[in-house]
Amino acid sequence: MDHRLRCLGTIPKISFLLLLSLLLFSFANAAFDLATIPFNDGYSPLFGDSNVVRSADGNGVKLLLDRFTGSGFISSNMYQYGFFSAKIKLPSNYTAGICVAFYTSNGDVFEKAHDELDFEFLGNIAGKPWRFQTNLYGNGSTHRGREERYRLWFDPTKEYHRYSILWTAKNIIFYIDEVPIREVLQNEEMGADYPSKPMSLYATIWDASNWATSGGKYKVNYKYAPFVTEFKDLVLKGCSADPIQEVSGVEPCSGQHADLEAQNYAAVTHLRRLSMRRFRERYMYYSYCYDTLRYPVPPPECVIVPSEKQRFKETGRLKFGGSHRRQSRRKGRTTTPVEDTDQGAM
Ligand SMILES: *[C@@H]1O[C@H](CO)[C@@H](O)[C@H](O)[C@H]1NC(C)=O
Ligand SMILES: *[C@@H]1O[C@H](CO)[C@@H](O)[C@H](O)[C@H]1NC(C)=O
Repeated sequence: MDHRLRCLGTIPKISFLLLLSLLLFSFANAAFDLATIPFNDGYSPLFGDSNVVRSADGNGVKLLLDRFTGSGFISSNMYQYGFFSAKIKLPSNYTAGICVAFYTSNGDVFEKAHDELDFEFLGNIAGKPWRFQTNLYGNGSTHRGREERYRLWFDPTKEYHRYSILWTAKNIIFYIDEVPIREVLQNEEMGADYPSKPMSLYATIWDASNWATSGGKYKVNYKYAPFVTEFKDLVLKGCSADPIQEVSGVEPCSGQHADLEAQNYAAVTHLRRLSMRRFRERYMYYSYCYDTLRYPVPPPECVIVPSEKQRFKETGRLKFGGSHRRQSRRKGRTTTPVEDTDQGAM
């Protein structure tokens, strides 16, 4: 049996549960109907241009991090709601200190009031798996991080997997392949914390030595450079919108919004909800909703699920499934106060 499965060792009847989860994950696997676009049709380099390497067929791109620079790309348009998706393969071997991010943002346009939806993949020392987090900000709410952190049920460096962000006026869903891993429902109490202004899609690889791995304990080691992350089969679906334009009486995007909301991936079906629950019960090791040290009262969009809460102590720290080594308090990235409390004796 794959050694990575040992992390589930605290759970009895491992093979039965494993089979069940595989079944659930594959039932949810009614493939999305996606129209992919060539890289040059939708995106352009953002920084580290020499480290943005297009594939020969035009459908993919590699982003490199070497000792001189990381790299990134950005969608050529901004979108008012949308489905942003790519097949991604993460760098292998020693990747401590590296952050690969796939996210939407309008931080370049609205410096003080930006919106953001994140996948952030956190590299690790050799032999330890990648962790990742999702997060969202609305209208500059950077003092209210909404991080969740997870493990994966596969090795993201071996094959491509599809990572997607759905964003409508009603809900936000983060997907890995066809498994929804997190859903945020628009909620009046969230107010402007719910992202609402047009955003671009970004993908980056960068040196996050001071933060990414065990709160900055392990730095990027350029002996292993270049670090290469690969993207292909990109999807950009949404209403292309000018973020500054005043909204007039007509709603130019309404047809496209309706189309987006009618897509198969725009709602969490019953079967997908089961696989989401399964994922969160087993692979989520941090959620701000259960972190009573940060939020004595959970923010309004939080839905407290008993079987999820069960994973955490009263403080929101992980109860089991990892080692409980104490971490020194370190300052992370200002917008990311979460520490990796689970060192994962995998
Ligand atoms: C990872 O490291 C091993 C041993 O150093 C090497 O053989 C292998 O090619 C590396 N893999 C990649 C993808 O760089
Ligand atoms: C968003 O933030 C800006 C700048 O802080 C503020 O002026 C505006 O009122 C906020 N919008 C909403 C809907 O709260």
